[in-house]
Amino acid sequence: MDKVILITGASSGIGRKIAGRLAQAGYRVFGTSRHPGQPTLDGFELLPLDVTSESSVRECVGEVIARAGRIDGLVNNAGIELLGALEETTVEEAKAIFETNFFGVMRMTNAVLPLLRQQRQGLIINISSLAGYMAAPFHGIYTASKHALEGYSETLWLEVEPLGIRVALIEPGFFKSEIGQRKTFPAQSIPDYAVEKATVIRAWDRFIEDGDDPAPVAETVLAVIEGRSKGLRHPVGKDTFIARLKWLAPDGLVRRRVRQTFNLKG
Ligand SMILES: NC(=O)c1ccc[n+]([C@@H]2O[C@H](COP(=O)([O-])OP(=O)(O)OC[C@H]3O[C@@H](n4cnc5c(N)ncnc54)[C@H](OP(=O)(O)O)[C@@H]3O)[C@@H](O)[C@H]2O)c1
Repeated sequence: MDKVILITGASSGIGRKIAGRLAQAGYRVFGTSRHPGQPTLDGFELLPLDVTSESSVRECVGEVIARAGRIDGLVNNAGIELLGALEETTVEEAKAIFETNFFGVMRMTNAVLPLLRQQRQGLIINISSLAGYMAAPFHGIYTASKHALEGYSETLWLEVEPLGIRVALIEPGFFKSEIGQRKTFPAQSIPDYAVEKATVIRAWDRFIEDGDDPAPVAETVLAVIEGRSKGLRHPVGKDTFIARLKWLAPDGLVRRRVRQTFNLKG
């Protein structure tokens, strides 16, 4: 029987690469988009889904079960970013990011868990980020949402592994995608932050535009599904290994290194 994998946010970037790779490897793959516009893409079935909506989540999971009768794996990939100083950001603007990056994951996970528990097998893979364990300036809410996702996933791992359900976090560095085209900004702009914010946004856009093709992220997901890559956390890409050693470095060194990365002085 084909294993069935559901991947949120598969219309572009990392999600599309993962969905295409898993379909090529022989899995029955359902990818999603808020505006699918076509029934299939790169060999996988495309379904409508907005992870910020309870009813959309219910309908999407119901449709996969109606078509395939089971779900073996959920890849929570859908994510968006907000670029701006924390002081410029309202609670409402921050909540909008969390609705997708954090509560979207929670909605999807809660929707598939009853089935995975019933099956006594399954896998939940959450696409976190380097920002899940390392803060970036002017990316505070995105960083907070990915840090929250890390804590959530670690707890989930502790709770559901005894029920036969595996949990994994994929932590990509910078990869080429359309995330920059979807980025949002706080409505308020405070002049004191303007110069450093513009410098960071320029650097960030370049990292994504010049980023590597996300194929290694897709290979890591495949390795996790096939049990070749074990454990909870799976960093992928340049700088992720060194960033994970930040806990061993003095705070001053970490601060200098992060500021240098984004072309900020001091
Ligand atoms: N690119 C990187 O360097 C990088 C690094 C680390 C982590 N990540 C993470 O990787 C994941 C994918 O990002 P990406 O870089 O591949 O960006 P992307 O090209 O913009 O893809 C994001 C996907 O999420 C979907 N999406 C956005 N809001 C959604 C919502 N409310 N409901 C359902 N789907 C939604 C989009 O689909 P529609 O607009 O068609 O609905 C799109 O398919 C994100 O979680 C991101 O944080 C990316």
